[in-house]
Amino acid sequence: PVLVMDFGAQYAQLIARRVREAQVYSEVVPSTSTADELLAKNPAAIILSGGPSSVYADGAPGMDPKLVEAGVPILGICYGHQLLAKTLGGVVEPTGVREFGRTDVRTIGEGGVLHAGLPAHQTAWMSHNDSVTEAPAGSVVTASSDGAAVAGFEDVERRFAGVQYHPEVAHSPHGQEVLRRFLHDIAGIRPQWTTSSIVDEQVWRIAEQIGDGRAICGLSGGVDSAVAGALVQRAIGDRLTCVFVDHGLLRVGERTQVERDFVTATGVNLVTVDARERFLDALGGVTDPEEKRKIIGREFIRVFEQAERDLKAQGDYKFLVQGTLYPDVVESGGGEGTANIKSHHNVGGLPDDLQFELVEPLRLLFKDEVRRVGLELGLPATIVGRQPFPGPGLGIRIIGEVTADRLETLRAADAIAREELTAAGLDQEIWQCPVVLLADVRSVGVQGDGRTYGHPIVLRPVSSEDAMTADWTRLPYEVLERISTRITNEVPEVNRVVLDVTSKPPGTIEWE
Ligand code: XMP
Repeated sequence: PVLVMDFGAQYAQLIARRVREAQVYSEVVPSTSTADELLAKNPAAIILSGGPSSVYADGAPGMDPKLVEAGVPILGICYGHQLLAKTLGGVVEPTGVREFGRTDVRTIGEGGVLHAGLPAHQTAWMSHNDSVTEAPAGSVVTASSDGAAVAGFEDVERRFAGVQYHPEVAHSPHGQEVLRRFLHDIAGIRPQWTTSSIVDEQVWRIAEQIGDGRAICGLSGGVDSAVAGALVQRAIGDRLTCVFVDHGLLRVGERTQVERDFVTATGVNLVTVDARERFLDALGGVTDPEEKRKIIGREFIRVFEQAERDLKAQGDYKFLVQGTLYPDVVESGGGEGTANIKSHHNVGGLPDDLQFELVEPLRLLFKDEVRRVGLELGLPATIVGRQPFPGPGLGIRIIGEVTADRLETLRAADAIAREELTAAGLDQEIWQCPVVLLADVRSVGVQGDGRTYGHPIVLRPVSSEDAMTADWTRLPYEVLERISTRITNEVPEVNRVVLDVTSKPPGTIEWE
């Protein structure tokens, strides 16, 4: 693999994704890894990420000089660029000139391998205080900017390079090409990480792990569990059984999508458990968001356990398929301990004492890779292109007690909003658009000649890369107008539609 050493900015995962876009497999590793640990992974190259420190600060994360003697190609980015330059004997100084955001980067000489033939002036994204003022002996300077005398250097012979700017972000238009050149042309890595190779390898691994055993897979209706299930089905055929729990907190069409589209595409064994009453009963009288989440999580596990006991009669199901993704793996291994903002519940929240051996075929993949794998496996775009939908479903989009009537109201409003957004071709632009019912709020309206006293519906369209941060999407007024008119006309309990214009932070994406 190509190892991306994470020096504490949020960029390491993005770098890893970009490396994979260049069809090279990459993993994120903590900057505290020792040289021996890194070399034991037999890296094809190492990339040092950006980070918030100054290389001269006390306790600044460093790199073991052993790494530069090991013959492994190394690319330094931002902080990593400074760290690599310093380790190789160059000079890093606080020049007093800071650069943040879009910066003009000029090619020096021929531009070396990384910058040759690119525009002599290119825009690149910078974020730094210190700068490399003298490149290491034996290397050539390939780029500079007003604030960074050495904005790029390379030592092609020893296969080292550094760039002060962030090639991984979209604001550096030539960044992906620069990364590609480092990987393919300087490090000499062959591009082999393709969707079909991912599928082949995962199917082989799953078959190996499960042998002639049987596996069970909880489907949530989301992309991840569907793709994980489809991969395992490809590997072990009808020794896989998928279980779909209808908790009644689903949107219009969701159950059909699983029961019809997913089964048609894969031919998988599917058991649907109708647990609608059970969930409604358990949620009766509950208004506290955290309590709702806990109840939904608990009931889900109970239903799943029951389904598992029922299946046991047919054979021994020893394996449980989970759609865990790479970012979850990196984050739980990072150990940074983020504050618990909300207790997330999903199919991945099944407890360890369920007594299964886990099969996690997406553990190494990013979301965009999961989508491509899904398409490669023949899943329809309606499943693969789905926007995220939380495990607790509409239960956390009704502000107030969850009841059957309120669910009907919200379902109807949500279906209209989704229909109009899709019709307007906005599905790609929007990350997701929760539709929220303020069930305990009423306001006065007028319809026909009569006074109404109904509930507001909130539209919460957001744009995001990873749901950690988000901005509210500037939807066209005509689309908002159509949604508002249709919801207030077609859903009798609703007489007002409002738009949530809060970014995250401070607002979370869901209202509960
Ligand atoms: P928040 O509301 O925390 O949501 O900004 C971030 C993303 O996570 C989704 N979400 C969940 N997904 N189980 C899930 O599987 C949950 O309990 C859950 N809560 C929120 C939310 O839809 C958004 O995409």
